Amino acid sequence: MKIDLFFTSDELRENILADKAVIVIDVLRASVTIAQALYNGCKDIIPVESAERALDLMQKIGRQFVLLCGERDGQKIEGFDLGNSPFEYTEPVIRDKTLIFATTNGSKAIVKAASGDKVVIGSFVNFKEVAELVLNLNKEIAIVCSGKEGKFSLEDAVCGGMFVHKLQEQKKGDSNDAAQAAAVLYQKHKDNLLKVLETCEHGKFLTSLGFEKDLAFCSQLNSLPVLPILENGRIIKYTALT
Ligand code: MLT
Repeated sequence: MKIDLFFTSDELRENILADKAVIVIDVLRASVTIAQALYNGCKDIIPVESAERALDLMQKIGRQFVLLCGERDGQKIEGFDLGNSPFEYTEPVIRDKTLIFATTNGSKAIVKAASGDKVVIGSFVNFKEVAELVLNLNKEIAIVCSGKEGKFSLEDAVCGGMFVHKLQEQKKGDSNDAAQAAAVLYQKHKDNLLKVLETCEHGKFLTSLGFEKDLAFCSQLNSLPVLPILENGRIIKYTALT
């Protein structure tokens, strides 16, 4: 099983994801917030690349039919309903709602990865479900780390490396240099995922904003058994019939 990993979504080029199963990772925090929102019963999530695009879309769909969600510099965007802390996405707030979701790196990476054959949103919290699905698809795999504004993010690389390790344990195959490097990082950090989140740049930034509880939440392996997949521009919960 061939695996290519990209440390940032800026590395993606046209057609590079065609026919592949794609895992998009933003450990802090978009992947986790998406998993939490679907787990708690939202109808679907429309990822967009900017706050402006979110507002355009909201006007087309109708303000009463959507929640505007997302962050800039880690904080809720002015005029939006929700920010990007998974703790905001409780069942009473989001059940059966369509969320328009604009974050700095994560939603942008998902939009960029949309040309993949099957695009799934992964992180530590739903690691097992995502790995199993991708293994069963029997396709070449691309792992897209969101990174931070075009730069490498340790937390996404370690999670990407965990996928590389697991997938290759099950089905041996070729992998690009980035995938091999990510697997080494995973081996180094696998026994203390929370520490990775506490010491990486974005983790320290979120802590400075008072979001330290989010780091613990995002570090919990297999705590949210849900499979978010992108279908026709919307992220929905995967079922076998999808
Ligand atoms: C992003 O998409 O850049 C992140 O999820 C930022 C955040 O921690 O809110």
